Amino acid sequence: MSDFAVRVENVTKTFRVYTDRNQSLKSAIIARGRNKFEEFVAVDDVSLEIPRGITFGLLGHNGSGKSTLLKCIARILTPNSGKITVDGRLAAMLEVGSGFHPNLTGRENVYLNGAILGMSKKEIDRKFDAIIDFSGVERFIDQPVKNYSSGMYVRLGFAVAIHVEPDILLVDEVLAVGDMQFQEKCTEKFSELKADGRTVVVVSHAHDLMRTFCDEVAWLQNGRVIETGDAMGIVDAYANKEHRARKVESGGVRFGSGESYVTKLEWIVDGVDTRTCHTGDEVTIRAHYQSEIEIERPIFGTSLDSREGVFVWGHHSRDAGYVVSSIKPGTGSIDVRIPSLPLRPGTFDVSFSIQDRTGTHVYDALQRAIRIDVLTGTPIESGGIMTFGSSFENIQPPRPIAAG
Ligand SMILES: Nc1ncnc2c1ncn2[C@@H]1O[C@H](COP(=O)(O)OP(=O)(O)OP(=O)(O)O)[C@@H](O)[C@H]1O
Ligand SMILES: [Mg+2]
Repeated sequence: MSDFAVRVENVTKTFRVYTDRNQSLKSAIIARGRNKFEEFVAVDDVSLEIPRGITFGLLGHNGSGKSTLLKCIARILTPNSGKITVDGRLAAMLEVGSGFHPNLTGRENVYLNGAILGMSKKEIDRKFDAIIDFSGVERFIDQPVKNYSSGMYVRLGFAVAIHVEPDILLVDEVLAVGDMQFQEKCTEKFSELKADGRTVVVVSHAHDLMRTFCDEVAWLQNGRVIETGDAMGIVDAYANKEHRARKVESGGVRFGSGESYVTKLEWIVDGVDTRTCHTGDEVTIRAHYQSEIEIERPIFGTSLDSREGVFVWGHHSRDAGYVVSSIKPGTGSIDVRIPSLPLRPGTFDVSFSIQDRTGTHVYDALQRAIRIDVLTGTPIESGGIMTFGSSFENIQPPRPIAAG
C-alpha cells in the first residue's frame, strides 16, 4: 500500500464557454457546428498529494475550482490532461441530492444510492437502520425525496455516503446546509473515520470548521494551488486576507463572491444598537453594506437561528415584495423592521445576505454575525421559542357530573 490516498499530477480541466449568447436563429443555423466558444480553465495544472489517513481541505473563493477538482478525483469529470491516482474505496458526497431520484422514496433512494456507491443489497440491509438513524429523517423515509428540504437531502445523502465505510470520503459543502446539531454529528463522524485511518477530503466555506477539522489544506486561486500545508496556518492566512478585503465590524462566518458585502449589522431597539431586547419589542435589523459594482435588483435576506442551531425565521426582500432597483458602487444601508418580536426569552444569532436578482449568486452571506439575548417582555407565554399572543377561552362553563 502506498502512503498516499490520492495523487493528483498536473491536472488541467477546461470548460467550453459559448460566447455568442444572443445570436438570432438564422445566424445560429448558419453557424451550426462552428459556434464561438472559449476554453475556460477551471483547474490549471494542479498537483497534490493527499496522505492516507488525514483530513484534507480545499480552500478558495467561489469559482476557484474546488468542486471541479473534487469531481475529477471522483471520476465524475475527466481532466483534459494530467493524472489522478486513487488508492482505496472512494465515496463522494458532492452536490445536494446527487445520486437521488426525486420520485423515489427516501428508503428506495438509500438502496439506489448505496448501490451506486458500491454497496451490495445485503450490506445496505444490514446498515439500513444505522443510516436512517444517522440521517434523522426516519419519519419521512417512505415519502418521495422531492418533498424533502435541502437539509433533509443532505442528511440522508451524507448518511449513506459515510456508511459505505469508504477509505476515502469526498465531501463538498455539506456542512453549510445542515443545522448545528447535524454539523456536530458530521464532525464526530469525521473524527471516527480519521481514527480508523481513513481519508477525508472536504470543501467548506466555514473557516472555523476547516480550521478545526483539517490537518492539511490546499489553497486554490483561479484554478491553481497557491499554497498547501498545515491547516491552521493557511486557513488563518486565507481568512485574514478575506477579512482585510472585506472589513466587517461584526463577527461571524461568511461566504460569497464579495463584490458587495455587509460591513456592519445592527439590532436596533428604541433607536439604539443593542444586544439585549424583550419579547414584544419593536426591532429594526439594519445592515450597512459596501459595493464595488452596480447590482440590479439585489435580494437582501436576513434570518435568526437559536443558539442551539434551530433556524427560527428568515425573510428575503423578494418575498417581501420590496424591490431595490439597483445598488451603485459605494455604501448604503437597509432596514428590516419587526413590529413586535415574537420570541420567548433566549439567545439568538442574526445573519444577513446579499444575493443577485435570481437568488442563485451569493455576493455575501454573513452568518451568525451578531448574538442577541431576548429577555422577558410581553406577552409572557409558557414554553418553546415563540410567542403567539395566544389566549384561553371558556366556551362551555364547567358543569358538575350529574349524580347517577
Ligand atoms: N460545467 C461547467 N461548464 C462551464 N463552466 C463551469 C462548469 N463547471 C464549473 N465551471 C466554471 O469553473 C469555475 C470553477 O468552478 P467550481 O465549481 O469548481 O468552483 P468552486 O471553487 O467549487 O466554487 P464555489 O465556492 O462557488 O462552489 C467557475 O468559474 C465555474 O463557473
Ligand atoms: Mg463548489
